[in-house]
Amino acid sequence: MITKRNMLLGAGLVLAAPAFVHRARAQGMMDGGMSGETMEGSHTSAAGTLQAGEPFRHLPEIDARGGTLRLRAMSGETRFGSGALTPTMGFEGSYLGPTVRVRRGKTVDAMVTNGTGGPVSTHWHGLNVPSNADGGAPQSVIAPDASWRATLPVAQPAATLWYHTHVHGRTAPDQWAGLAGALIVDDDDSDALGLPSTPGLDDFVLILQDKRFDEDGRAVYQPDMMTIMHGYLGDAVLVNGQFAPAARTPEGPVRLRFINASTSAQHRISFPRPATLIGVDQGLLPRPIEIDEATIAPGERIEVVVDMSDGGSAPISVTASLMGGMMMGMMGNDGVQHTLLTLTADPDAPATGRVPERLTADLEPLSAPVAERSFVLQENMGPMQHVRGMMGRGPTMAINDEPYDPDRISFTARIGTVERWTITAEDMAHPFHAHGVKFLIPDPQRPEETGWKDVVAIDGTRDLLVAIEAPTTGDVPFMFHCHILEHEDAGMMGQFLTA
Ligand code: C2O
Ligand code: CU
Ligand code: CU
Repeated sequence: MITKRNMLLGAGLVLAAPAFVHRARAQGMMDGGMSGETMEGSHTSAAGTLQAGEPFRHLPEIDARGGTLRLRAMSGETRFGSGALTPTMGFEGSYLGPTVRVRRGKTVDAMVTNGTGGPVSTHWHGLNVPSNADGGAPQSVIAPDASWRATLPVAQPAATLWYHTHVHGRTAPDQWAGLAGALIVDDDDSDALGLPSTPGLDDFVLILQDKRFDEDGRAVYQPDMMTIMHGYLGDAVLVNGQFAPAARTPEGPVRLRFINASTSAQHRISFPRPATLIGVDQGLLPRPIEIDEATIAPGERIEVVVDMSDGGSAPISVTASLMGGMMMGMMGNDGVQHTLLTLTADPDAPATGRVPERLTADLEPLSAPVAERSFVLQENMGPMQHVRGMMGRGPTMAINDEPYDPDRISFTARIGTVERWTITAEDMAHPFHAHGVKFLIPDPQRPEETGWKDVVAIDGTRDLLVAIEAPTTGDVPFMFHCHILEHEDAGMMGQFLTA
């Protein structure tokens, strides 16, 4: 049956190609204003090299539930669609990394070897492990040809986490190039639920990255001053490196684990079939929540189950945009919209999963906060920044007037306690993230903001109730920062210890 909704989505599909061109022109104009490029500069979209509908390829998996994980960061080249080869990086491959599966209650002996020509690191985003194993600190940077060893005690509930490089000053370009992968924690409780959980059949890992393309279809990342300040927005959002692929599913529930691995774009994902949100950053929600769309900022994850029991095809669409705020409105960033992937039910594939009404126990009331802290995320968008930009230096961003300094520890928090953190975003909205902790958002504005989180979009001022989870070891700190990677690299990051 064709509903009005389906028709609208269909229209979106047809418009996808012209939207690229429109978007590219707008971006060219915006960049041209600051960097002196002309409107017909290097950002003309080559939409012709991306064709929708190629078969969806599941990412390879590495089973580390036995307690051993070996990863190698590598440089390579990747062809997106039928475009020219793009220099990229990945783990165990040329772009992105395998999905790593770990199990609660097991300790993983991880070793990452750096086969690229530059420094890399491997931060297990969302995994609350001691700071010397977290991978986010400057002490954990891996030199070319060197290896880094980390002991990961997995002690948290089932969740869709991820791993990515985290070398200060180059996280944005290197993650953009592909140094990111999924990290899935499972446990007995989640196994018992009967959720769709067969990789390659009804359990999908979807790593989203937007890319801008030159006229040869090569992906390009050359941020100028305006891009660093407002964010990078591509011509298209790729899923695991593919443009609008077609995936076969069973005629039944299908679990989609979305990871926003873009440097700065947020993604609104729309579902044309009955869909339920079952999990957010730090794991499963107490109960599934019906949704027809959800938005994830850089660093955020959601798990959604789409019901394909009516058969046929369901295009899932994405609208990518910069994080917004008053300045963004003035720049006219209306985003890019197209089909992200199309699910097609195969009547011959067995539907094995279900979504029970109860997923996890209700959250226990938290103990009273023992400390209050406030953090102001600052882009410092004053005239001085533009002077620095013209002199060829990047902008200096900060938190509480302090640009990132590897020698500064901003505070020490007590393990096992709860703190109230008040985060304020200046100039535009910013996705705030901290290592070694998880938090609740007392005033959730969307279902995606319920449950335990580790990234939250801050527009204005918001309070978080932060559970201090993991220990710092020696002098290795945990990081807190904006997950717009251009901002993190420009200094919107700080360090703390736990005790
Ligand atoms: Cu996903 Cu400190 O980052
Ligand atoms: Cu992290
Ligand atoms: Cu930011």
